[in-house]
Amino acid sequence: MSDAALTNSLETWFKANARDLPWRLDHRIPYCALVSEFMLQQTQVARVLEKYQPFLDRFPTVEALAQAHEDEVLAAWAGLGYYRRARMLHACAQAIVEHHDGTVPDSAQSLQNLPGIGRYTAGAIASLVFGQREPIVDGNITRVLLRVHNKPEPQTDNHTIKWSWRRAGELVKSATNPAIFNEAMMELGATICTPKNIQCPQCPIRSHCQSFEAGTTESIPLPKPRAKQKPMYCASIVSIQNRSVLVEQRPVSGMWASMYQVPTIERDDRQPTPEEITTDLSVDADTIKPTGTFTHITTHRIVEFAVYRADSIEMGPNQAYRTLDSLDQIALSNAQRKVLAVAGLIEPL
Ligand code: ADE
Repeated sequence: MSDAALTNSLETWFKANARDLPWRLDHRIPYCALVSEFMLQQTQVARVLEKYQPFLDRFPTVEALAQAHEDEVLAAWAGLGYYRRARMLHACAQAIVEHHDGTVPDSAQSLQNLPGIGRYTAGAIASLVFGQREPIVDGNITRVLLRVHNKPEPQTDNHTIKWSWRRAGELVKSATNPAIFNEAMMELGATICTPKNIQCPQCPIRSHCQSFEAGTTESIPLPKPRAKQKPMYCASIVSIQNRSVLVEQRPVSGMWASMYQVPTIERDDRQPTPEEITTDLSVDADTIKPTGTFTHITTHRIVEFAVYRADSIEMGPNQAYRTLDSLDQIALSNAQRKVLAVAGLIEPL
């Protein structure tokens, strides 16, 4: 069956079935699309839904974002994870102001020259906002394409990704409207052609789908060989004075770069010993109380946290007490929110 018949069925379906997502109402506004596409790069739609509008309220224009202090941007990003993206979005806004007079460029090529914008985000903004016939490929779209063509491959193989870009490029050429076609592919991957609980009976392109015909949809793509997450051990000290908690900022590079935390020490191979905690964090050994433990999992790490309370701690040069009410104004990682929740200071996530 022809590409035009496939793209036509998919576009018709999307027009009738698209989820009502706020950036879809806004996504003709280039700055809003920039923010939503950065947020959606590695974060689930449900989480982005909580953070998108507050972020735009705080930074309503490219200029407002460009002029903001990085700490404020990180604070508004808190909870979305992958904080490097927040720094990149900030740098991107600054580059748009500096090199494009504050106007988001409309070609995939110039978009890709901006910080934090790769081929996917460039294609998404060029097509969704500016109607350019540019393909987009992400994990969802690769999975759809592999299934349509009954190709049992891991979706992370380089040659598979290359093939997906070629195929998505051919399809977007056949589309009636590239913006609708591209977003329809994302939507199909997110709601019907999902990794598990696939909804083939509802699929608008099942008559074009070779894996549906062969009965192999569920086994495509092949599982990807996964790098093992490395362990990490953290001891965090929660110290309270006058309804304020002691915090410090992390180094500008590495994990949780520039984010805030309560005084924490970390090891790669084992929990820090009580002696290390008392020495490294200048805390009085007699006042330190174990409060709880939890495991925090990120893409690359399995982090075992041990949380302590200690009200007699010597304040270091880059540490400060912040009131509990003002904690939502600083960039705290989800791991540190869990630390504060274990200490009973905030609601669990
Ligand atoms: N993921 C990435 N971009 C998206 C969009 N515009 N709509 C829904 N999910 C997305």
